[in-house]
Amino acid sequence: MTRLAVYPGSFDPITRGHEDLIRRGLAIADRVVVAVADEVAKQPLFTAEQRVQLAKTVFGRAPRIEVRLFQGLLVEFAREIGAQVVVRGLRYVSDFEYEYQMALMNRKLAPEIETLFLVPAFDLTYLSSSLVREVARYGGDVGSLVHPAVARALAARFRRRK
Ligand code: PNS
Repeated sequence: MTRLAVYPGSFDPITRGHEDLIRRGLAIADRVVVAVADEVAKQPLFTAEQRVQLAKTVFGRAPRIEVRLFQGLLVEFAREIGAQVVVRGLRYVSDFEYEYQMALMNRKLAPEIETLFLVPAFDLTYLSSSLVREVARYGGDVGSLVHPAVARALAARFRRRK
């Protein structure tokens, strides 16, 4: 049986932290689908299409990774593609409450799907898309935090806003 994991998120934008988690996911699954949420809670910096495109650029033709856009409930999407596992990253204690609630609700909705929490690399623990956006917004160097294509997209996005 092919073990398929889904790694969902807003990816606004995808960071080196996400990349690390996705690669860790490949150690426990045969394939990982990076599921980019179409609708996100806050007004995103990048459109859904841009977020998908950036994630696709980051992973290029990596054979066991696929980037997909999804709408609606995550567990419905996971069922649709036949994923048995949802992978989420846990960085700090502050992540825990929200992640735990979400995992339990997802289990209520789809008991056959397991949530698996993975811990990022030590030097990426502080990283988040929102911090990356903030650093880039004020002209800080995000070169070591994101893929070069993402750094270019951020620079273009904020240049346009000035
Ligand atoms: O990167 P994020 O913003 O932490 O990702 C959150 C995301 C997109 C994974 C979550 O909001 C989600 O799964 N949204 C889709 C709707 C859904 O299924 N919500 C969870 C029900 S408990």
